[in-house]
Amino acid sequence: MAGSLWGGRFEKEMDDIVKRFNASIGFDQRMYNDDIDGSIAHVTMLGEQGIVSMEEKDAIIAGLEEIRKDIEKGEIVFTVEDEDIHMGIESRLIQRIGDVGKKLHTARSRNDQCQVDGRLYVRREIKEIMERLRYLESVILEKAEKYAEEITIGFTHLQHAQPVTLGFVFMAYFQMFKRDLQRLSDTYERMNYCPLGACALAGTTLPTNRHRTAELLGFTAPTENAMDSVSDRDYSLEFLSDAAISMMHLSRWAEEFTWWNTSEFSYIAIDDSFCTGSSIMPQKKNPDMAELLRGKVGRVYGDLMQLLTVMKGTPLAYNKDFQEDKESLFDAIDTWKASITIFAKMLENTEFRMDMIHKQMGKGFLNATDIAEHFAKQGIPFREAHSIVGRMVKVCENNHCDFEELTDEELQKIDVRVTKETLGDISIPACVEARVSYGGTAPSEVKRQIEKEKEWLSYYS
Ligand code: ARG
Repeated sequence: MAGSLWGGRFEKEMDDIVKRFNASIGFDQRMYNDDIDGSIAHVTMLGEQGIVSMEEKDAIIAGLEEIRKDIEKGEIVFTVEDEDIHMGIESRLIQRIGDVGKKLHTARSRNDQCQVDGRLYVRREIKEIMERLRYLESVILEKAEKYAEEITIGFTHLQHAQPVTLGFVFMAYFQMFKRDLQRLSDTYERMNYCPLGACALAGTTLPTNRHRTAELLGFTAPTENAMDSVSDRDYSLEFLSDAAISMMHLSRWAEEFTWWNTSEFSYIAIDDSFCTGSSIMPQKKNPDMAELLRGKVGRVYGDLMQLLTVMKGTPLAYNKDFQEDKESLFDAIDTWKASITIFAKMLENTEFRMDMIHKQMGKGFLNATDIAEHFAKQGIPFREAHSIVGRMVKVCENNHCDFEELTDEELQKIDVRVTKETLGDISIPACVEARVSYGGTAPSEVKRQIEKEKEWLSYYS
């Protein structure tokens, strides 16, 4: 076919609708830098191995660098005629430097080329996303330090459960994003193998050196099996799984933000610059960023499901289905990156209204478990202690009062072992202070967690 790099055996041009349907240039052009880097490494190796001459190698590299500059200047406009970024760049190279450009594609195929590009692209984005997660973690640590001693309400089933420190809540989220960082780091390690030189599916008869191209591109080593190399999309799936889990974490916190921000709770005040108004209700200040974050997770779950579904049932080795591996991946990268940054900045710009939180603290018998534990320490079996406190709650509910207001008489009626004196200090701060078990909510324990994670984060950077 006239014009196309693969047209030798064709007698007819592709139909226009086929061209459009077939092309990936609309979305894979964002990998142009990676494509050029991959080609430069490849031709460097071809030169070193004597497969092309050193002069040919130099001419090809110079041509590729020129094309890179012109793309950056916006002087190259790709169209469906290019089909994909690989041919878009290769055909321009041939136009510019002539026949020598035709030697670039020796001992490689687009099947391995698109995989090198993809891995280089994702590898770079992983580093960028890790940087953003580290930033979010540093904001969380700052907030945790600031609120290490402030007491808030811990919920289970969205019911008042036990008093906790606000710093403790922050550190709970810290752990989620820490695992996200660790997952990304694992993904990076596992994907950092170079498929270049696998060719179409079976390797080559030419005397290539795949270890050299892997080294030039900063990979740990070449991939082991050519057939697997061109058909594997596990690295994208792993990345998308990491993204889906991390977006779920962001969405959970975003959900908390939306109800912390309600008129009923008013636990937080999000800065105006991170809220929006209503076109009809003049008084409205909506937590749109939190809601949007909660919504964005749907796209990323969709991205993961899309690629899992594409891969299901595809035989070895390359299939054109695999071209559908990119848009969802790019969408997840863009969405995840933006979401982390928006959340970190929104968190930085949010005030926690301790006055409003403390107003709610009296409700829900937050210290009930602590009293039961207090009895257990005095030798009452925990099951009995639990039942005693349960009965105390009942009496308080009937009398519309708190534990502290129960009289000795009332306490004795519940259980002879209980008096005001045996109750001891059951104030909320005393209860929180005493929860010093490893990983517990006491300020001293939260400070230990903060110190430990600060060190982890600095070591991890
Ligand atoms: N644009 C293609 C993709 O992204 C490149 C590989 C094409 N290979 C082929 N044999 N048609 O998957």
